[in-house]
Amino acid sequence: MTVITFTGGSSLQLLQAIVFLTLLLHLRPALGFISSVGDADSDNIRCLDGERQALLKLKRGFLDAYGNLSSWRSGDENKNCCNWKGVHCSNQTGHVLELRLGFSYLGGMINPSLLELPYLTYLDLSYNDFNHSHIPEFIGSLGNLEYLDLSRAKLSGPIPHQLGNLSHLQYLNLSCNNLTIIENLEWLSHLFSIKDLDLSFTNLHVANDWLEVVSGLPYLTTLNMAWCDLPPMGHSSFPHFNNLKYFTSLESLHLENNQLKGGIPKFFGDICTLRELRLSGNNLDGQLVERINDLSGCAKDSLEVLELARNQFTGSLPDFAMFPSLKVINLFSNKLNGTASKTIGSLHKLEHLDVSSNSLQGVISEAHFSNLSKLRHLQLSDNSLTLEFDFNWAPPFQLDEMYLRSCKLGPTFPNWILTQSNVTTIDISHAEISDTIPAEWFANFPPKLVLLNLSCNQIHGLLPNVSKMPLNAHTIDLNANHLEGPLPLFSTNLSSLSLSKNRFSGSLTPLCKINGGLLGFLDLSDNLLSGALPNCFMHWPNLFILNLAGNNFSGEVPSSLGLLSMLVTLSLHNNNFSGDFPLSLKNCSSLKFMDLGNNKFSGKVPAWIAEGLPQLIVLILRSNKFNGSIPWHICQLKYLRILDFSLNDISGTIPQCLNNFTAMAHKGKSSSNLFDGDYLGTDGGYVCMGIYVDSAMIVLKGREYEYGKNLGLLKIINLSSNKLSGKLPSEISSLLELVVLNVSKNNLIGEIPQMIGQLKQLESLDMSWNRFSGEIPSSMSELQFLSHLDLSYNNLSGKIPSSTQLQGFDATRFIGNWALCGLPLTEKCPSEETPPQSEPTDDGSKDVEKDKDEFKKWFYAGAGLGYIVSFWSVCGSLLLKQSWRHAYFLFLDNLKDWIYVTMAVNKARLWRKFQNQG
Ligand SMILES: *[C@@H]1O[C@H](CO)[C@@H](O)[C@H](O)[C@H]1NC(C)=O
Ligand SMILES: *[C@@H]1O[C@H](CO)[C@@H](O)[C@H](O)[C@H]1NC(C)=O
Ligand SMILES: *[C@@H]1O[C@H](CO)[C@@H](O)[C@H](O)[C@H]1NC(C)=O
Ligand SMILES: *[C@@H]1O[C@H](CO)[C@@H](O)[C@H](O)[C@H]1NC(C)=O
Ligand SMILES: *[C@@H]1O[C@H](CO)[C@@H](O)[C@H](O)[C@H]1NC(C)=O
Ligand SMILES: *[C@@H]1O[C@H](CO)[C@@H](O)[C@H](O)[C@H]1NC(C)=O
Ligand SMILES: *[C@@H]1O[C@H](CO)[C@@H](O)[C@H](O)[C@H]1NC(C)=O
Repeated sequence: MTVITFTGGSSLQLLQAIVFLTLLLHLRPALGFISSVGDADSDNIRCLDGERQALLKLKRGFLDAYGNLSSWRSGDENKNCCNWKGVHCSNQTGHVLELRLGFSYLGGMINPSLLELPYLTYLDLSYNDFNHSHIPEFIGSLGNLEYLDLSRAKLSGPIPHQLGNLSHLQYLNLSCNNLTIIENLEWLSHLFSIKDLDLSFTNLHVANDWLEVVSGLPYLTTLNMAWCDLPPMGHSSFPHFNNLKYFTSLESLHLENNQLKGGIPKFFGDICTLRELRLSGNNLDGQLVERINDLSGCAKDSLEVLELARNQFTGSLPDFAMFPSLKVINLFSNKLNGTASKTIGSLHKLEHLDVSSNSLQGVISEAHFSNLSKLRHLQLSDNSLTLEFDFNWAPPFQLDEMYLRSCKLGPTFPNWILTQSNVTTIDISHAEISDTIPAEWFANFPPKLVLLNLSCNQIHGLLPNVSKMPLNAHTIDLNANHLEGPLPLFSTNLSSLSLSKNRFSGSLTPLCKINGGLLGFLDLSDNLLSGALPNCFMHWPNLFILNLAGNNFSGEVPSSLGLLSMLVTLSLHNNNFSGDFPLSLKNCSSLKFMDLGNNKFSGKVPAWIAEGLPQLIVLILRSNKFNGSIPWHICQLKYLRILDFSLNDISGTIPQCLNNFTAMAHKGKSSSNLFDGDYLGTDGGYVCMGIYVDSAMIVLKGREYEYGKNLGLLKIINLSSNKLSGKLPSEISSLLELVVLNVSKNNLIGEIPQMIGQLKQLESLDMSWNRFSGEIPSSMSELQFLSHLDLSYNNLSGKIPSSTQLQGFDATRFIGNWALCGLPLTEKCPSEETPPQSEPTDDGSKDVEKDKDEFKKWFYAGAGLGYIVSFWSVCGSLLLKQSWRHAYFLFLDNLKDWIYVTMAVNKARLWRKFQNQG
């Protein structure tokens, strides 16, 4: 498994989940080992014949594809079933007491022969795959069961109420299946002996009685009902809640990610045994200070874990000093404001503090940490906090994770960070640091560092020492600083690197030492890097985002780039690359975004492009020296939404098959992100946490804008400034979702397609500087969103169709035509000057029309180019503003707007493991 990067609290949880699963993966062989040792011990116990037969029947019901039950055989030499794998017998009577068959790769069904094992107390079938079958009702007849684990066994359907008959059950785990309940949880109230109950990920949204039922279970110590869609804790279902002492033994209560509303029930505070209270991800609200006061019963001395993240709590931070045992405080993503009390510094057991994504303000100083010697995780990101410490402050803690994004730490580099030698994660991005990086920090770099995020500061100067000693973090983000000098040396196992928007210079060659094969993300855009690209891309087979835009790279693209079969995004724009369209890219069949714009590429646009890169969504070749004609094969790119061939030497005609660009013809998913979160899928081979937003330079309304976040909403064809000839195919009118069409500055002839008015989403249409002739189609007046139009310098004639839209444009948008008339041009049309005459309806009428046309042409042929009617230009700009109703035209000022970084997990290794065990 590769390591990761993120800066958000929620992705932290995702990370934890993955780490947890990975742990389980490693644990599995150990479990198997333990159970086989147990079996060997029971050598001299004899198994009962009837029970052996029952086990063989049970095996026949199972699908044992991996032979995990191969020791369960009927032959004489295997007669003693107490020696079979996973079977444990009583050492007195030989009865089968336990079946430990978790993680055994079993499928098929659970045979009722289990009932022939009357002494069974322990049944573990977790982590198998029962193919969405139901929990059999007969399990409820295994009356001696004390332990039942059916978690993560691909079971679905309702939980049989017969489980309520298991009155000796102490442990019940049904989590992580696709189970539900029919009506209520009444059956659960009969499990008098239950101590540990895990129903997480069960659909309990109809269980209005849940709190009443579980709170009455006298021995319950651990309750997990996270992710159960639990309804709010209504008083109606809970009649005696002030009189009786409920939850008398409860230590651990997990209710995160449900639909709980309002406050925290006061009686939770009266559970004197309560150690963990996890209520994150609900809709709890109110002043946190008051809500916490409700917990000030005897639980205040026992409480160690208080998780209230992702709720709607308001007001200031409470005085947590009244909970002296607290180890974990998690208030991530609430609506808290005000300053933090220094009393928090007295919580000497505190290990984990997360108040990120609130609106806290003020100064955090040494006093806030005075006794926090056990603090390991500190998350203060995304508030308005200022961290001010004495330059020589030696914190009492050694942090593991430090998330301080957007806390003010600068202007000098926070020296105390140098004392944190055990740290794995540092995020001090957006921290107003305008300093150099202390040389001694890099000389004694924290050896366990996995993530380093210093982005969006004003850190300047050279990176100290880094040409000798590699930066060992796996994910490094130094984006948007003023760093300079050659590229530093990085760990061979680097997985994600962003150095964009700095002043790094020199060649890319130092990066060739990153050869651990883990690199998934590389963003070097907007630096001063130069020279030819080294041919070392073979070291990065898992690369899926490569952004080298805005540098001074030159020469041809090396052949090894073609080995990047996972590559999804390739941005090379604004460099000096030359040579033909890189043939090696033919193998980058995952590519969705390709921007080669503003380089010196030449040669023909290859015909293989559609076959080789069938996933393309964005294809930008703008401003190069490409020549030849547009291959008709390009029409096979059915996902294409942005096609920009402008500013090249492309000649020939525009292919008629344009209507095959189905992504431009259909609405599709309305997602502003280009890939609709596809990265998160399993197909690309990666699990990607966080979002990288592709951005591209888009020409709109005559200006170039950088588009990031909302690129996915645009559908664009730009063929401007080439040598294209022939007609504009009428098929263009079927690209109904097109937003921008620019064919200006070519040699196009013929009429403007009559049906162009079908392109209802069109906001920008530029056909200027061609030889289009005939009249402007009247359908054009239907283009209500059109805010940029240019038809100037063609051979158009006749009256400009009337509509608020068309007359709203500046006259310059129509000038230079053969014989156009009517507003906004000053030239009046003949019909407006002379009163309308009744036309003869005989065959002669056509000739009359013809004559009129000839007259118009003659009349207007020499009439003035270049009138600007100031009235219309004022109005025009007003209309333009109005039409900005679409949010996506509010382009972003923040270009490389990637929110948090990405991580690559190799599908082949990790995903298959998940699936196998599921
Ligand atoms: C039999 O098992 C019990 C507990 O199950 C254990 O305490 C006892 O030592 C065992 N006796 C033998 C002879 O293994
Ligand atoms: C089941 O079989 C698989 C594949 O042989 C093995 O990896 C796994 O450890 C086995 N599990 C147990 C509990 O024996
Ligand atoms: C799973 O169940 C489905 C439908 O009941 C069945 O078609 C399929 O063959 C089963 N798969 C296995 C592996 O048993
Ligand atoms: C869960 O079960 C419901 C029916 O109870 C079914 O519609 C749904 O597809 C199942 N989900 C999964 C992931 O198996
Ligand atoms: C906190 O927010 C509330 C509600 O928005 C506001 O009334 C109060 O003044 C704020 N307090 C501080 C200290 O900013
Ligand atoms: C460093 O972190 C590890 C866990 O990652 C912890 O066990 C160890 O105690 C820490 N060392 C120090 C000096 O804090
Ligand atoms: C356009 O699409 C049609 C139907 O999907 C297909 O038959 C045809 O070959 C395509 N044409 C081109 C040039 O891709």
